[in-house]
Amino acid sequence: MLKAPYVYIALLLSPFVLALNDGLARTPPMGWNPYNAFLCSTTEQQYRTAAQKLIDLGLSEVGYQFVNLDCGWQGKARNASGGFTWDTTAFPSGIPALSTFIHNLGLKFGVYSDGGFFSCDFVGGTAHYIGSLGHETSDANSFAAWGADYLKYDNCYSGSVSYTPPYFKFRSPLHAVSPTDFVNFNPPIQIEPHYVTMRDALAATNRPVIFSICEWGVQDPARWPASAVGHSWRISNDIGPPASWDNLFRIINQVVPLTQFAGPGGWNDLDMLEVGNSGLTTVEQQTHFAFWAAVKSPLLISTDLTRIASNSLNILKNNRIIALNQDRLGKSISFKRRYTNDHDIWSGPLADGAFVAVIINWQNSRRSLTFNLADVGLSSADATDLISGSFLGRINQSHTAVLEPHGVMVLKLSGTLTPSPQPSFQFYNAASSKNTLIGGANIRTVTSSVSVVGFIGNGGKLVFNEVDGGSLGGTKLVSIDYINADFVFSNTACSNCRNAFISVNGGTPVQAQMPISGQSWDIIFSGYLVSLSGFKAGKTNTIEISNPSAFTPDFYRIGVST
Ligand SMILES: *[C@@H]1O[C@H](CO)[C@@H](O)[C@H](O)[C@H]1NC(C)=O
Ligand SMILES: *[C@@H]1O[C@H](CO)[C@@H](O)[C@H](O)[C@H]1NC(C)=O
Repeated sequence: MLKAPYVYIALLLSPFVLALNDGLARTPPMGWNPYNAFLCSTTEQQYRTAAQKLIDLGLSEVGYQFVNLDCGWQGKARNASGGFTWDTTAFPSGIPALSTFIHNLGLKFGVYSDGGFFSCDFVGGTAHYIGSLGHETSDANSFAAWGADYLKYDNCYSGSVSYTPPYFKFRSPLHAVSPTDFVNFNPPIQIEPHYVTMRDALAATNRPVIFSICEWGVQDPARWPASAVGHSWRISNDIGPPASWDNLFRIINQVVPLTQFAGPGGWNDLDMLEVGNSGLTTVEQQTHFAFWAAVKSPLLISTDLTRIASNSLNILKNNRIIALNQDRLGKSISFKRRYTNDHDIWSGPLADGAFVAVIINWQNSRRSLTFNLADVGLSSADATDLISGSFLGRINQSHTAVLEPHGVMVLKLSGTLTPSPQPSFQFYNAASSKNTLIGGANIRTVTSSVSVVGFIGNGGKLVFNEVDGGSLGGTKLVSIDYINADFVFSNTACSNCRNAFISVNGGTPVQAQMPISGQSWDIIFSGYLVSLSGFKAGKTNTIEISNPSAFTPDFYRIGVST
């Protein structure tokens, strides 16, 4: 799993995106899946109703095309010839008939299976719906014969080889699995081959089938790279249910080191939408949808469309936000700057030469928020508010708007894009002998040319000495290169992030909430920006990094603006 050379490829070269190049998913897939609303308790009628609702509510018209099965449709045993079966009580007409119904509405049909023995369920792994491990060719042929246009491929019961389930006693024990291995975020085997086998089985059917890799981000699929295996890959554990703002925060941090891997034919999947479901305010649903769209996640509605509120429906139907997702350039927004506990700025390019900036209000209060254009490298541009559609005219240096609690500003920046002056930095290596390491802080060698200081926090401190404050001192922009592989699958105090407290010359520390830089401790995030005051003129400044109650990231170097 550790593939050290990626560090430098990711850092120094523009990303090379290896895609399947089979012409599918040139833009992120859009559609409906029941899971966030109905879990695995699904019926044929629910799918038929949802398909009809996509038409009646005008959702198919704006791009939502797929009606996808999720867990709960399958049988619990294969048939006499080893074929895939379905639950004939919940699906009395059968899957081929459902597929025909959906196709006759002009929509596309997706199936769901699992690269393990049994699939996922919502009863702690006790349902034992059949999985496809060891049956890939036969199952891919069945799915293609039924008219599947999409396969979501999950990862339950896939990770160990220690147990032979009863009905496999007479078959090869090769694919046996432990009954305790329902969900394993740290499996003892490589998961990628399960997906490669199914990719090849699907390709052999000659039916175009979008392959959605759903292994929750274990073993860092973006870096396999999953773009050579499927058309999208989940980057994280489930978004819910239940939906929550904290879950969004966990997933947003997790995509920070992955945005460069998205491109036509292969997308980071931030999981299905919670728009329309309880647990998020309407404003939070808007922020969720805009971010998912701009980061080029698949947009799979996952709510009960017979009961959706009109404000949620309007969020899903906003053509300007959908256009961001379906932009043919296919570049994700990327993380630009975090004003800790205040707001995030992400931006990225669009096919027409414009840029989009997405600004998230982390404050859970209605407030005035000023977006500095310099944070996306510009000093002036024509701006359009993509949520409302209003043209804001030319904005110079900054734009201020009132944002709702956890609200979002989505600006299209177009016209003549005037760049802002680029700051230049003087860099100081954390492992320099000029620095002071206190408590447990110590130097770790990453490669022959990169050393970092780790174990900062919980008593450990790193002090940069002899930092140049220039001829005036005052406030400086500081750029931090760091490593943080403290990734998580469930929420923590700082989910997929770590806090560093940074103090200049013993002054009040500034909190920097720093997202993960990858899933291994050799992938550097370059250029986390924080503004620090209290510099004196001359070369006698100190910068101290600490955290009283947790560890900070490992620091590689800091740059101080000159
Ligand atoms: C078994 O299932 C497969 C796939 O659904 C199907 O094609 C085949 O006809 C079934 N065979 C029997 C004997 O039911
Ligand atoms: C930005 O500058 C342009 C050109 O100087 C001016 O026309 C425009 O009104 C300014 N916009 C704002 C919001 O001040």
